[in-house]
Amino acid sequence: MSSNNIIQSSQNKKHNNHLPKINYKEFEKVIKSRRSIRFFTKEVIPKIVIKNSLNNALLAPNSSNLQVWEIYWVKNLNKKKKLIEACLSQPAASTAKELFVFVARPDNWKRNNKLMLDHIKKNNLNSKLFNYYSKITKIVYSQGFLNLFGYIKKILVIIIGLFRVIPREPTSFSDMKIWSQKSIALACQNFMLSMRAYGYDTCPMEGMDSLKVKKILNLPSRAQISMVIGAGRRDKKKGVTGDQIRFDNNLFIKIV
Ligand SMILES: Cc1cc2nc3c(=O)[nH]c(=O)nc-3n(C[C@H](O)[C@H](O)[C@H](O)COP(=O)(O)O)c2cc1C
Repeated sequence: MSSNNIIQSSQNKKHNNHLPKINYKEFEKVIKSRRSIRFFTKEVIPKIVIKNSLNNALLAPNSSNLQVWEIYWVKNLNKKKKLIEACLSQPAASTAKELFVFVARPDNWKRNNKLMLDHIKKNNLNSKLFNYYSKITKIVYSQGFLNLFGYIKKILVIIIGLFRVIPREPTSFSDMKIWSQKSIALACQNFMLSMRAYGYDTCPMEGMDSLKVKKILNLPSRAQISMVIGAGRRDKKKGVTGDQIRFDNNLFIKIV
């Protein structure tokens, strides 16, 4: 057995059998004390908290494990000033001690698919995985020049779907945007809960000019700005701007 396989099998063991004991009450405290904070104090967030929370963000589940995401921690003062303006100068951005931009990169799926194939080959992982990333993902995520392959897939999906179950998306770049946004949104939530667990706070923002944000970060047009997240210590007097309103759960939770 190669050393890589040994690492792999010990990781599998850890994730299958050696689960840490979890205090669900502490977890619920994290969930229930998270609020969207509009005013932060000037307190510095320790670097280790930010680094760990960024790493935790990237542990989110993501489609096909293709990790089509990027997180920009905007530290450059000039860029930060422009980013606050691009967030319509809302206080959740202007008072935030730190600002992060969570970006979906559907345009990076091919690069990451290659990284995955390299990883599978290097670590001698199983042939099912190799098959998935050398054949299936290429059919599922390729849309072709002028979306021609996407149109062919769409027609085939409609016909084949008459006879059997079949995954129907993505067949266009619009579908790829939705596909990648689902995964990055989970990374956003991991990040926000992690910051809360460390005693800090966040506010997700889509109230921003996404084109301006892309310009500030020198991103290509196909990159998708998911959320800007402001972070810091909540201002205890005006950080939370109202009650946490949720409608009756029965409106949303359906048992069928
Ligand atoms: C995708 C998304 C975009 C949001 N955009 C903004 C925003 O631009 N500005 C803001 O103050 N809050 C924003 N929020 C926060 C919501 O207003 C907030 O989550 C909601 O009112 C519920 O409050 P709570 O987060 O405190 O439970 C956003 C939340 C999400 C998930």
